[in-house]
Amino acid sequence: MECSWERMDDRHQLDDCLELMYALMQYRHEPVNRRLRKMGKRESMLHPDALQLIYHLARICHGCILEIGAFRGGSTVAAAWGVRDAGTPKKLVAVEQGGSLRQHPLATRNIMRSLKRTLARERVADLVMLLEGRSSEPQIIAEVNQALGTDEIGLLILDADTGVKRDLDCYGKKLIDRCWLVIDDYGGPPENQKRLPTKTQVDELVNAGQLTPLGYYGLGTWIGQWRRLTPPPDR
Ligand SMILES: C[S@@+](CC[C@H](N)C(=O)[O-])C[C@H]1O[C@@H](n2cnc3c(N)ncnc32)[C@H](O)[C@@H]1O
Repeated sequence: MECSWERMDDRHQLDDCLELMYALMQYRHEPVNRRLRKMGKRESMLHPDALQLIYHLARICHGCILEIGAFRGGSTVAAAWGVRDAGTPKKLVAVEQGGSLRQHPLATRNIMRSLKRTLARERVADLVMLLEGRSSEPQIIAEVNQALGTDEIGLLILDADTGVKRDLDCYGKKLIDRCWLVIDDYGGPPENQKRLPTKTQVDELVNAGQLTPLGYYGLGTWIGQWRRLTPPPDR
């Protein structure tokens, strides 16, 4: 029987897609799903399905977790609960630039203060290393690298601005092969100005073989994996 590597990869991709869908269905019957919905309503812009999958991936991933764009902490708490329920220690680093958000149901005059409050209220502050600044600032890149040490990233959550390629340029060297990626604003309503630039960059990376798409959930959240096309950096 003929079986090319390409077909084997397609087969793995299909299995991974189905596993994610199946996991989501399973979680619908578990108490964590209700807790995520309740917390997410107060603290997250993401759809409950996206939060549930962040929880799931944080729970099953190998390596550390890096989140860019924590806002009030909804997605950060979902990842932290996943880490806690994994039962094995994993570093979770969240980068947030701070500032304020007005005229929005989740408006806050001080994003950083709201984020810290959420992490404290949900009792996960000790699981999250919080870095205040923009993801592409040299100081923040240095702090992330220092926080991770020689450890690599197994889950990257991008829900900030439209700098998908920029953030992958900053942190790509730290990602393991098949690192899970959650990228918000891939889809959604046309009035979402982040949608087009995000989708364009993600599609280009998929076409270049750098990303493998595994699903599209909630309000427009892309889920997939990173493929390491170059050898890992020297240690
Ligand atoms: C869409 S919100 C994140 C929503 C959050 N993940 C949730 O669960 O609700 C985007 C956040 O990213 C932050 N942000 C935007 N660009 C950033 C950057 N380059 N580095 C760090 N934070 C950034 C914004 O301040 C904002 O709080």
